Amino acid sequence: MKKLKTEFPKNFMWGGAIAANQAEGAYLEDGKGLDISSGFANGIKHEHDIEIQKDKYYPTHDAIDFYHRYKEDLALMEEMNFNVFRTSINWSRIFPNGDDETPNEAGLKYYDDLFDEMIKRGMEPLITLSHYETPLNLVKKYGSWRNRKLIDFFLNYCETVFNRYKDKVKYWLTFNEINNMRRMPGGAGGIFFEEGENQQQVIYQASHHMFVANSLAIKRFREICPNSKIGCMLSLSNVYPHTCKPEDVFETMELRRRSLMFGDVMIRGYYPSYTARIWADEGVEVQMEPGDEELIRCYTCDFLGISYYRTSTHEYGQPFYGDTGGDQGTPNPYIEATPWGWQIDPLGLRFTLNELYDRYQIPLFVVENGLGQVDEIDDQGEIHDDYRIDYIKNHVKALKEAIKDGVDIMGYTYWGPIDIVSAGTGEMAKRYGFIYVDRDNEGKGTMDRKKKASFEWYADLVKNNGNNI
Ligand code: BG6
Repeated sequence: MKKLKTEFPKNFMWGGAIAANQAEGAYLEDGKGLDISSGFANGIKHEHDIEIQKDKYYPTHDAIDFYHRYKEDLALMEEMNFNVFRTSINWSRIFPNGDDETPNEAGLKYYDDLFDEMIKRGMEPLITLSHYETPLNLVKKYGSWRNRKLIDFFLNYCETVFNRYKDKVKYWLTFNEINNMRRMPGGAGGIFFEEGENQQQVIYQASHHMFVANSLAIKRFREICPNSKIGCMLSLSNVYPHTCKPEDVFETMELRRRSLMFGDVMIRGYYPSYTARIWADEGVEVQMEPGDEELIRCYTCDFLGISYYRTSTHEYGQPFYGDTGGDQGTPNPYIEATPWGWQIDPLGLRFTLNELYDRYQIPLFVVENGLGQVDEIDDQGEIHDDYRIDYIKNHVKALKEAIKDGVDIMGYTYWGPIDIVSAGTGEMAKRYGFIYVDRDNEGKGTMDRKKKASFEWYADLVKNNGNNI
């Protein structure tokens, strides 16, 4: 019988999370190739360009210039007592075209320096291998993940970075929010549809290739980095039935399953039995090769990383769509929303963590949670983002309650500890940071950094291991 835990464990990991494409900029520097995010003019939710257009503004091209300013930025993270920092390796810095024979040494060197700096400043690097950064050449030349060849290219990339960073990086994630293949396959997997094709067929076939790639990467990881941990990552903001009408409840469960299926495959190691029904209803027939299912069974993830921002509700038969923060349906009358319509629900985090731990029984890591808001600079030049402090306080309290409920949680990396480009919309105005970056939606501003009120507050939270609230 396990004892009741009333506090955050001593080795709990606290920090922040960003993604290379939303922060680094330097989009063609030091031999980097174009990646899928290079064509995001208005974020992943809107149409993106496969051909980069001259004279069009793409916010990811400069982003917040983390590529050149990471030392200054990580010094600020150290001031906030972070012991973990999550970012991604942009695949196209290492293999500019994705199918190159040899890696780009300048790209490898950049991440060597970046990880050294994190470690020097007391932060464990938590590294995502693919965060909406598939090399654009792979999209154009091969149709991205719809093509089985992508497995080999991804594996080559993984082996390269596992070998190179095995002594520096102990925590890895494979695909960011892989379940967004369902609703945002352009960003999540570089999938663009041809006219008249069965889109569900393409999505599930491409996802299968990613599952095989995930397992093969884990297989190599176990050999190259035997003492490190590798997880999968899903967008798991939750959805409630809008009412207790049985049809609302049932259809909500079905919707949730379509996300959890991704975790089921990568954690339990097999396609759950309900998959057959989903595929039959959608007219999907996934082509597998002999050995695929065995591989998926043998090489599963050590932990589950999740993003959790909000909840939504679902009404039977009503539309439901995908967004960076998670699935979105009918607004919930009981909770408030941000200006972007994201409904704030700390108890939903506790609910979700319990749901996931009951299902998977492996450690969970909240690798994204945060509040995107409009921040105003007052006459004294200060930013009083009390709303952000409230958001985190309430979510961290929920986290603590989940620990008391018996859930095994490895850590919490707040999303966007420094303002970065919004993945969903490409805006800078949707700010998450404890650190303000002087840059606007049109790309104007000095890029200077400034601490917001939440900066000291979060530093104090981490210093106290979350036990001061
Ligand atoms: C997650 C993504 O979906 O949500 C991040 O992993 C993203 O890349 C975050 O930035 C917040 O979404 P947005 O659209 O507000 O940037």
